Amino acid sequence: AKQYDNCIIGSGLSGSVIAQQYSTFNQSSLIIEKRSHIGGNCYDTIDSETGIRISLYGAHLFHTNSDRVWNYVQQFGHWVNYEHKVLGLVNGKYVPIPVNIDTVNALFDLNISTEEEMKEWLIQEQVLFLEKDGTTIREPKDSEEVALTRVGERLYELIFKPYTWKQWAKYPKELGPEVLSRIPVRSNHDGRYFSDRYQALPQNGYTSLFENMLDSPWITVVTDTDYFDVRDKIQCKRLYYTGPIDAYFNHLGWPKLEYRSLSFERGVKFNTEYFQPAAVVNHPQSHDYETGKEVDFTRIVEYKHFLNQTSDHTVYFIERSTDDGDPYYPVPNDENKELYKRYQGMAEKEEGVRFVGRLANYKYFNMDQAILNALEVVDQDTGRVVVEEG
Ligand code: FAD
Ligand code: NA
Repeated sequence: AKQYDNCIIGSGLSGSVIAQQYSTFNQSSLIIEKRSHIGGNCYDTIDSETGIRISLYGAHLFHTNSDRVWNYVQQFGHWVNYEHKVLGLVNGKYVPIPVNIDTVNALFDLNISTEEEMKEWLIQEQVLFLEKDGTTIREPKDSEEVALTRVGERLYELIFKPYTWKQWAKYPKELGPEVLSRIPVRSNHDGRYFSDRYQALPQNGYTSLFENMLDSPWITVVTDTDYFDVRDKIQCKRLYYTGPIDAYFNHLGWPKLEYRSLSFERGVKFNTEYFQPAAVVNHPQSHDYETGKEVDFTRIVEYKHFLNQTSDHTVYFIERSTDDGDPYYPVPNDENKELYKRYQGMAEKEEGVRFVGRLANYKYFNMDQAILNALEVVDQDTGRVVVEEG
């Protein structure tokens, strides 16, 4: 077998950035990908019935504050500035998410207009927890207390409690404080979902970015191949593994690291401009306000809104959070954290192997974090010194 400088398991952002970077050092890489396509969870493709570009594993919005990442991605395609907005359907009304002045005004029939008024309103709503002595305020001990401290009972009951249940199949009371610790609430009218300096979408989609990244004589990509079926047949100086860390060690007889997954139900409307008023509509509540019917999905994504795509028809995907399926979100609890540490201990002893990316680190990474992390892995392994500007 041919010997490569690097074997890279997985063609997601982590693996693809590493291969691309080594190609600039004239080093060869063999990428082994289990799925039938490159791009990992960023993969997108054209929906054949409507001609609309859709993402197979959920909507991907690029946002970053990192100049290094932003400059890096410019090389592989044209980016169009795009400020993502999300609406929530709450009590029959479409309201901005994250919660801002307009959300609160719509839900509670208020006329808040300034930041000061919004801050005062929030303070009235917030529930504080006192120590037994009744005077000193204590830290919230679970995610319910975190939410009550931050947004108060009304927003908690309307939005955060039912949505958390749908996402995790657990109520905030059963989850550690960190799960809801970063509920964003805006005391202004800012309706953007992200507040990063750079927010954009690739004009020709993510898959074409990956094609451009991997288009090099130094890079060989093999799809439809599970690393564990070929690990004895490939030869490389170094191995970069971006799959699940527990799978690498064949679980060692230990329990599996738990993940939440998503299912996507496709719907299409022919001869219809739009199905819903925004690309992403969240459905936090357990029941429909008008019909009283159960709503078991978390959100609906209508891709035609992204980059104002044109079609006579429209296609949308209903997302449900599920127990099994592809690994998406690590389940944050003490058992999993402990277990991950044990696997990490094994990984550190594994010579010539680097564990990179969201699955190998059992951690949710945004795309920009995955890119930066992969760039830094190559910095370290090549001794490259990067001078950060600004
Ligand atoms: P992955 O993309 O998962 O790639 C890993 C690859 O390894 C996969 O292709 C897999 O098939 C392959 N693999 C695994 N095991 C093996 C094996 N044994 N043999 C061969 N190949 C194997 N980030 C944002 O910045 N903005 C967003 O809006 C956003 N939305 C998201 C929405 C969802 C639903 C999810 C789950 C994530 C979202 N992300 C978003 C995060 C983004 O998807 C990740 O940052 C990115 O996918 C990380 O890339 P990765 O290469 O580490 O992992
Ligand atoms: Na997303």
